[in-house]
Amino acid sequence: VVDVLFTATDLVQANGAVVVIIDVLRASSTIVTALQNGCQAVIPVGSISEAQKEAARRENVLLAGERNAIKPEHFHLGNSPLEFTPEAVQGKKVVLTTTNGTRALKSVENACTVIIGSFLNARAVARFLEREERDVLLYCAGSDGRFALEDTLCAAEILRQLKPFSLADGARWTLQGAKSYLDFSAPDKEFQIFKAVSRSRHALRLINLGFEEDVAYCARLNQMDIVPLLKDGKLIK
Ligand code: MLT
Repeated sequence: VVDVLFTATDLVQANGAVVVIIDVLRASSTIVTALQNGCQAVIPVGSISEAQKEAARRENVLLAGERNAIKPEHFHLGNSPLEFTPEAVQGKKVVLTTTNGTRALKSVENACTVIIGSFLNARAVARFLEREERDVLLYCAGSDGRFALEDTLCAAEILRQLKPFSLADGARWTLQGAKSYLDFSAPDKEFQIFKAVSRSRHALRLINLGFEEDVAYCARLNQMDIVPLLKDGKLIK
């Protein structure tokens, strides 16, 4: 059975399911990009002070993240996936704190496995879920406790690519709702995703802050085959 959760809350009982954390703008896309570009591990933490402590007790570490979408003072990197180039992250560990994405990651209990999903690695995530043959929870991080269109459209794209699963209520709703934004079988689906994502509340905020390239990047589909996996508190390839 596959289901969808629409916003981050403090505690989510996964009941042994595989949980896919989806925060398209931008934490998921940033984590996938960092690992793709040679980062050794991304360590998600809840607060800025925890991030600073975590970084202080490790070597070869970069501090990264955002508050109100902006890089905190004294951090090496913000939360723009475009900053996580091979030159910046190759061979390094990244301690990451973000408003919604790391909150969702920290709130999951009793999951069989926790992975990261985005448009960039949607197909790879679907293939991974098919191999696991377990219940699946697509966990949309949302935005400040609210529904986020871009995360739910990404959940719909992963659902579309999944083969033999039965759909719980949230998954049915997601697929049905997404059809009013996207024609999944159209040749210009990627452009439709870009258009829909660009009109979302958080995208408009990012565009206003000058991050329009991030929005375009995060809306790209199936660019990477990696599936970040949470192991002992670290996200690895
Ligand atoms: C978050 O986790 O809240 C986001 O990734 C915010 C952002 O766009 O940086």
